[in-house]
Amino acid sequence: MGIRNIFKEEDPILRRRAREVITFDERLGLLIDDMIETMRKAEGVGLAAPQVGISRRVIIVETKEGGLVELVNPVIYEKSGKQIGPEGCLSVDPSKTGYVERPMFVKVKGYDRNGKEILAEGEGLRARAFCHEIDHLDGILYIDKLCQPPKSEE
Ligand code: CO
Repeated sequence: MGIRNIFKEEDPILRRRAREVITFDERLGLLIDDMIETMRKAEGVGLAAPQVGISRRVIIVETKEGGLVELVNPVIYEKSGKQIGPEGCLSVDPSKTGYVERPMFVKVKGYDRNGKEILAEGEGLRARAFCHEIDHLDGILYIDKLCQPPKSEE
C-alpha cells in the first residue's frame, strides 16, 4: 500500500481506545511498513496506528539518536524525571505546537511484528515521543494536555 492518509484530530477514530493486537500476521507487518513510510514522508518522529485509521495498539518512534523502533501493545513500565517542552502532532495542524509536561526518561515494553518481546527506552525527545504515541492508543492528543511554558522561556 505504501503511504497512508493521516487522520486529523476531528476524526472519532483518534478518540477511541485502540484494541490490543492478538494476531501477529502479514497484515500487521504491512501496516507497520506503511506506518514507517508515512511517518518518514511527513517527517515525524513517531506515529500510532489510529492516525492511519487502524484502531490497534501499534506505534513506531524514530529519532536520530535512538533509531527506529516498532512496538505492538506497548506499555510504559518505568518513568522518571520531568520535562516541559513543545510538542506537535501529524494529526493536528502540523504548523502548531504546544507545551506539554512529560517524563524525562521512560522504559517501554511491547512486541515486534513477529511477536517477539522488545524493551525500549528513551530520554528527552525520545521519551516524549513514546508517551505521545502511546497516548494516541488511548484516544488522547497532546492538545488535551497543554501547560504553560517553563518560566525561562516566557
Ligand atoms: Co501525534
